[in-house]
Amino acid sequence: MPSNIVACLSEPVPYLDLSALPRELDGELERTVARVAASGWYLLGPELEAFEQDFASYCGARHCVGVGSGMSAIELALLAGGIGPGDEVIVPAYTWIATWLAVTRTGATPVPVDADAATYNIDPNLIPAAITERTAAIVPVHLRGEPADMDAVTAIAADAGLLVVEDAAQAHGARHRGRRVGSIGEAGAFSFYPTKNLGCLGDGGAVVTDDEALAERVRLLRNYGMRNRYEIETAGVNSRLAEIQAAVLRLLLPRLDEWNGARASLAALYTSRLGSSDSISMPAVPSWADPVWHLFTINHPNRDAVANALAEQEIGTLVHYPLLPHQTPPYEEEWPRGSLPVAEALATSTLSLPLYPQLEAAVCERVAEAVLATVGPAASA
Ligand SMILES: Cc1ncc(COP(=O)(O)O)c(C=O)c1O
Repeated sequence: MPSNIVACLSEPVPYLDLSALPRELDGELERTVARVAASGWYLLGPELEAFEQDFASYCGARHCVGVGSGMSAIELALLAGGIGPGDEVIVPAYTWIATWLAVTRTGATPVPVDADAATYNIDPNLIPAAITERTAAIVPVHLRGEPADMDAVTAIAADAGLLVVEDAAQAHGARHRGRRVGSIGEAGAFSFYPTKNLGCLGDGGAVVTDDEALAERVRLLRNYGMRNRYEIETAGVNSRLAEIQAAVLRLLLPRLDEWNGARASLAALYTSRLGSSDSISMPAVPSWADPVWHLFTINHPNRDAVANALAEQEIGTLVHYPLLPHQTPPYEEEWPRGSLPVAEALATSTLSLPLYPQLEAAVCERVAEAVLATVGPAASA
């Protein structure tokens, strides 16, 4: 066995190593930042325009508008789609809280729908019962990089006349029946937070859409609501994607598919090794879904014990998410514990294992072996 592999089999395994990216790019990242720093143009300039074109075309959408964060992308897409006070917006119970907060920021009310027990994404069968005369939009989330059931969501939305804003914060490049997520609803919202499959060197986000009027509205809203200098048309916000971030994203975008491929190979390795255990379950991937494995998660009834055992072997894990949006102060009064049982069960049993494109397959094998050793013997044939 080569000595570098022997070394990596005994070293600590971080949950995520973001410094692997600049190492892989070998100075390109630093040169990109230096080029923009020297240009004297830091906001709403040529880098942003070029990235918006590149990312729209990558997603298969006509327009892309860079904004300050993924949460802001959801909020501005909803506002641009006419959502506001008095409206209700259907959201998954099982998601990062930013999905809900973005709805709340528009003045509308998030209305949760429980997770599907197989895929953990929003259960479309439960959406019709959540629709009232105030419902104006649905925000499906492609959690962990796995597409939500967009056929079902768009059919329900079309029937009820609802706007669909996809939360694709974790799903850059994922496909639903061959179409990139984010380009299926009226708008898609992306995050470029550094840990994402496509991440920048700070906060960033984008709205993609085929709807020119919606894109124009987001452009207006992201920059104070200013049409021309000092001509304020509406009460907007300050939510811009900086030139340095856009330049970095332009550098990374051409490599995204390769990195997503590396994630998929590691996920396949985990799936085949861990599939032998009776006590571990993993989310199902429907035949129409081509996920990008933002996270690799397992579920185990003694999740915390598994995490602790791995920590003792210096293997990092995280929990996405131990507390769901409806279990936090902004929402807990309206949605008491027990009201969203599938999501609540997932919150106590889900564990995310190390997964990033530069992770060595041998290290991934070691993590899988450590998990299997912790959860007990494999299922008998
Ligand atoms: C599902 C989901 N939605 C929205 C967001 C918000 O993105 P940002 O952190 O860029 O605001 C995130 C970020 O973690 C997310 O995971």
